[in-house]
Amino acid sequence: MLILGIETSCDETGVALYDSKRGLLAHALHTQIQLHAEYGGVVPELASRDHVRKTLPLLREIFRQAGVEPDGIEGVAYTRGPGLIGALLVGAAIGRSLAWAWGVPAIGVHHMEGHLLAPMLEAEPPEFPFVALLVSGGHSLLVRVESVGGYRILGESIDDAAGEAFDKTAKLLGLPYPGGPALAKLAQEGIPGRFKFPRPMTDRPGCDFSFSGLKTAAINTWRKLEPTPQNRADVARAFEEAVVETMVIKCRRALEETGLTRLVVAGGVGANQRLRARLLELAEERGGRVYYPRLEFCTDNGAMIAYAGWRRLAAGQAADTAIDVLPRWPLDHLSAVD
Ligand code: KG4
Ligand code: ZN
Repeated sequence: MLILGIETSCDETGVALYDSKRGLLAHALHTQIQLHAEYGGVVPELASRDHVRKTLPLLREIFRQAGVEPDGIEGVAYTRGPGLIGALLVGAAIGRSLAWAWGVPAIGVHHMEGHLLAPMLEAEPPEFPFVALLVSGGHSLLVRVESVGGYRILGESIDDAAGEAFDKTAKLLGLPYPGGPALAKLAQEGIPGRFKFPRPMTDRPGCDFSFSGLKTAAINTWRKLEPTPQNRADVARAFEEAVVETMVIKCRRALEETGLTRLVVAGGVGANQRLRARLLELAEERGGRVYYPRLEFCTDNGAMIAYAGWRRLAAGQAADTAIDVLPRWPLDHLSAVD
């Protein structure tokens, strides 16, 4: 089955062609980083307008890359939520309209299900069941995954998402948007152990996260220091270590609680090298394995939407012709497909 995937939930336009027999045929991404940089964060209206400008040219590009004609498409998947309403509507309107014009089914995909299934695009995909750590700009979730759609939330952030904490802390340290990768880069220059910030909520049972106190601890420390590059790097280092260690402690707990050995890590913060290295150690220590999407599919992309859409379309699910999106959409409201 040949599926076209379209992702427009936030500040990246991502499109892909996925064939259930041949795998990923082509994908393309346009990032809006430069557009939003001068505002220090995503401006929703600018995001929507840019998706309008970029989606169709990107679609033409992947059809050319893959040497595929539109009449070969057997289903269309677009991100239905969660995300920015205007941005979602652009992808949903384009996806739904193309599906209608081509006479094929369409499906609205949950963005976090896309992230969660992204490691399935790799050569050695994880088998069900597994624990998934989903850490992006809008969500931090630990999920027990039994099947596609069979999700039980083990823990989630009670305030800022992990990526949001990275972005806000980076902004307060005077780093450019998007803050997460910039802060991680700066942290490499930091002296380990110079500052130690709390590991929030690790002294209580359960797998919930809280990152906003950590952001405050980092900023209060920074404001008392001379604003030198080394001091800034040292604060960044301590912040990153605290976030990473907190996530590792919660992942260990989730594996212990469920008795599972496979851990999937996905979402933008899953691109963080320190997190990847520490979770690898955790998996080895427990005799298990950790699975990641390739780096470019940790952050938003069309490939994960095409793949997740295929799993649901192949199971006979399809959206009706209404263009509807869900800016808020709990992951555990999805139906299981196998
Ligand atoms: O999944 P994603 O691309 O978009 C959302 O669905 O939110 O995640 C973006 C988030 C941003 O908060 C970004 O700062 C963070 O992922 N991020 C990182 C790194 N790369 C991206 N955070 C820490 N370290 C990184 N290397
Ligand atoms: Zn995302």
